[in-house]
Amino acid sequence: MAAPNPFEKQTPIPGVKHIIAVSSGKGGVGKSTVATNLAMALGRKSKVGLLDADIYGPSIPRMLGTLGQKPQINPETNQLEPVTRYGIKLMSIGFLVEEGAAVVWRGPMLFKAMDQFLRDVNWGELDYLVIDLPPGTGDIQLTLAQKVPVAGAVVVSTPQNVALIDVKKAVDMFERVNVPLLGMIENMAYMINPANGEKMQLFPKGEMDSYAQSKGIKKIGEVPFNPSVGLACEAGIPIVEANSNGAEAQEFMKIADRIREILP
Ligand SMILES: Nc1ncnc2c1ncn2[C@@H]1O[C@H](COP(=O)(O)OP(=O)(O)OP(=O)(O)O)[C@@H](O)[C@H]1O
Ligand SMILES: [Mg+2]
Repeated sequence: MAAPNPFEKQTPIPGVKHIIAVSSGKGGVGKSTVATNLAMALGRKSKVGLLDADIYGPSIPRMLGTLGQKPQINPETNQLEPVTRYGIKLMSIGFLVEEGAAVVWRGPMLFKAMDQFLRDVNWGELDYLVIDLPPGTGDIQLTLAQKVPVAGAVVVSTPQNVALIDVKKAVDMFERVNVPLLGMIENMAYMINPANGEKMQLFPKGEMDSYAQSKGIKKIGEVPFNPSVGLACEAGIPIVEANSNGAEAQEFMKIADRIREILP
């Protein structure tokens, strides 16, 4: 007899049209920055939620200036009410435990926490639910793919070859769990030299582009490195909001438009 297929138990979240997973193999390449700004950019024209699925290192409360906020429980439905910021509905383990407190959950607890974030939060009507995943290809990623139909994944990477091996793992994982890849976003792709306005390469350009081409993965964005992107996140006002006319914000708007084309 064939083994039971864990992906048969996927159930949509009522009212949520498209679930987008923001992922990377490697840590620290800018997933949370991209997820936050992408949610903000999509939020200009659509109803958007942002779920911080990084149970071990939640970043969203800080990046959106909502540290210390406590989601309310609706006594009638027993659901958690998301925290709303800039019109985006947010949920994060960071709202529920103190910042800096270590969450030491393993498999079953993670499974339960993810389930609650997907089912027991009053997401309401959303065009897009953006999910900021932790780095790697572990339990949280698999739980997500098993529990809900993910419309597509975005893989974030920096350009150099040390990131490539992790990108390959992430792409391989999404293929195995039948989650379509919406595309790749190259973060810190270049920097504008303040002295002469020319593009500078921060990292040696590796084989990322040829790998993506060989797999038929589209590059849907190239976000420049700019200290103001990081500063804006630290200040809790993402760059799409803080400097909406800047090159970085404009790139996030373009990425949002591309995603709207793929997932109307
Ligand atoms: N385009 C950018 N320009 C300047 N700084 C950036 C850019 N993107 C990200 N950063 C900075 O790089 C650091 C890592 O970013 P971020 O936390 O978004 O990465 P991550 O992939 O979510 O990390 P983790 O794997 O720990 O979850 C942060 O300090 C962030 O402000
Ligand atoms: Mg992160």
